[in-house]
Amino acid sequence: MRLDVFFTPKEPAPADLSGRTVVVIDVLRATTTMLAALCNGAREILPVASVEEAVRRKEGLGRRDDLLLCGERGSRPIPGFDLGNSPLEFTAEKVRGRTLVMTTTNGTPALLAGGAGMTCYVACLRNASAAAAAAAKIGADTVILCAGRHGRYAMEDALCAGLLAHRIRSSADGLRMNDAGRTSLLLAKRFHKAIESVLPRTAGGRQLARAGYGDDIRFCAAIDAEAILPRFHERRVTV
Ligand code: MLT
Repeated sequence: MRLDVFFTPKEPAPADLSGRTVVVIDVLRATTTMLAALCNGAREILPVASVEEAVRRKEGLGRRDDLLLCGERGSRPIPGFDLGNSPLEFTAEKVRGRTLVMTTTNGTPALLAGGAGMTCYVACLRNASAAAAAAAKIGADTVILCAGRHGRYAMEDALCAGLLAHRIRSSADGLRMNDAGRTSLLLAKRFHKAIESVLPRTAGGRQLARAGYGDDIRFCAAIDAEAILPRFHERRVTV
């Protein structure tokens, strides 16, 4: 079995994804928020790349009370949308039984890229073991696709990729990895016990704190708090 990590969605070529299990990560915060929403009973999430497309997609689905527009730009809620991108906003009261049309800066574009894989899962620190177990069980060559930040490396995503790589390696004999995979593994070995203190010091963590979302960082840092694994399939994320 082969495991390749890519630190940004622009790195993999189509051939690097097709026929493979793809696990998409955006720790701060998109994939963590998607997981929180589905854990709180959201029916499905429809990820889109732009604000305009989100509005179009909602209009295209007709006048339905169960549709919510969600997302952020610059970590702040998009004017006119129902929810932002803080996982703490997506309570059962707000999202149970709802369809969420979601656009974020880095996470939803990464997920749309990951959809080129054979199977595409949504992961973060909160369901790291569930994602690793699924990838190992399928046993197919696997890609961990990090959302990054504005097309650049994001340490929190690489750290999460390293945790997944460590877990996959412990149940997949003879696992072969690319250098990004080995690097993320070393990062996880070094910092897996200090995630709560590392995340606030990343560029993404500092941006969230400046925007007043410091509490989100602690929520995003809780390893294996959930056992569910959302899947992106036919343009929607469901459990
Ligand atoms: C993203 O997708 O870019 C992030 O989730 C941004 C954020 O939530 O601040």
